[in-house]
Amino acid sequence: MGTSGRHASHVRTRCWAYIGGIGILLICWLAVIAGKAVGRASLARRAAQSLAEQTEGSRNLVLRNRRGIEVHLLRTGASIQKLLLPDRNGKFADVVLGFDEEVAYSDGRSPYFGAIVGRVANRIANASFELDSATYRLATNERGMPGSLHGGRRGFDKVRWNAARVAPCASERRQGAKCRRGDEISMRYQSAAGEEGYPGTLDVEVTYTLTDADELIQTIRATTDAPTIINLAQHSYFNLGGHASGEVLGHELTMPRSTHMLPIDAHRIPTGQLAPVRGTAFDFTSTAELGARISNVDGPGWTAGFDHCFVLHGRGPAALTKPGTQWWPRTPRPAITLRDPASGRSMAIATNAPGVQLYTSNFLDGSLAGKGGARYPKYAGVCLETQNFPDAIHHLPTADRGGFPSPVLRPGETYLHTTIYTFSVDRLSGAVTDR
Ligand SMILES: *[C@@H]1O[C@H](CO)[C@@H](O)[C@H](O)[C@H]1NC(C)=O
Repeated sequence: MGTSGRHASHVRTRCWAYIGGIGILLICWLAVIAGKAVGRASLARRAAQSLAEQTEGSRNLVLRNRRGIEVHLLRTGASIQKLLLPDRNGKFADVVLGFDEEVAYSDGRSPYFGAIVGRVANRIANASFELDSATYRLATNERGMPGSLHGGRRGFDKVRWNAARVAPCASERRQGAKCRRGDEISMRYQSAAGEEGYPGTLDVEVTYTLTDADELIQTIRATTDAPTIINLAQHSYFNLGGHASGEVLGHELTMPRSTHMLPIDAHRIPTGQLAPVRGTAFDFTSTAELGARISNVDGPGWTAGFDHCFVLHGRGPAALTKPGTQWWPRTPRPAITLRDPASGRSMAIATNAPGVQLYTSNFLDGSLAGKGGARYPKYAGVCLETQNFPDAIHHLPTADRGGFPSPVLRPGETYLHTTIYTFSVDRLSGAVTDR
């Protein structure tokens, strides 16, 4: 054997060691494959579930409560397509503007009817911003304007969200059980890094819950894998008289703690100042009819009307915060009441967002064919979009000057925006009281 024999035996030993090692690797590899298969199976199951939601179409995405209130959702834009509310005589009407066909929500026809708008709602000056000393350029997607509006060309309103029913009230009720939490549907969307020019992969989830206390609770959560900016808002156009009932000028608006609003420039971008509302068309600290105020809002004739952000929660000038002092409470606070004296329907809004954009559908002109062929004239709806102050990335606080609450979201942080709409009716025809 000699040297070669020792060598041969050494080779054999190493060979067996290799085979043993390969065996272990093989076992590990099989384990990984098996694990992946199990993972894939559960993913496939989940996919099949969401496919079931998909094939049943958005018709299946309806929340109902004990009183008969219904909220119909669409996967496109995680939108509210219909909202059925009783009037003081128990007669139901659909109180949000919209389209019958889902495709109208994504093909450019819809002026953001009922959608979740983002990644950044409202306008960003000059369609660009700086974050951590990098510059990001966005689409200029508003006719004749240099800014970027509602997330760009294909914002969150136009994409398909995944939908899942979380708490099925209907099945609880079939079993004779009380629906405690409320009927609930969750929608998710993952916005890729670079989508519409924004950095960071953003995972967004919006949950709509309709309770038997006649509340619609909307919770929006988002996380990111890289620093980005965010401002999400619900863009429903309410007409409490019914979506096809004409103008909302007779609606009464109350924002008892909104002592200040954000003045805007010619491009409808906040100047960065806060202005007291006292003695102006913007004073809704006590109840006022929209129609009594709207003609006093400055703006070129064809755009005249409200398209302004208000400071909520009595923050007043203190809403201009110092660096590092974020003001965005965890729980919603009462902020707004909208009431239609004609039908008796009224809606109270509580939110944890620091602002609300009041928009009176100034750009509608009767040319859109809405649900059931309805023509929506100017002022056919009113939007109360709870959100952060618009263009906040350009109005961050500095060491010597207060600024807007930061819209920056970083990895490890969670964006949480909760808004509760509580519906009620007043029983007295022509009542002057709030309830
Ligand atoms: C937008 O562009 C105009 C004109 O160049 C400039 O005056 C203004 O400061 C810019 N605004 C922002 C926020 O960059």
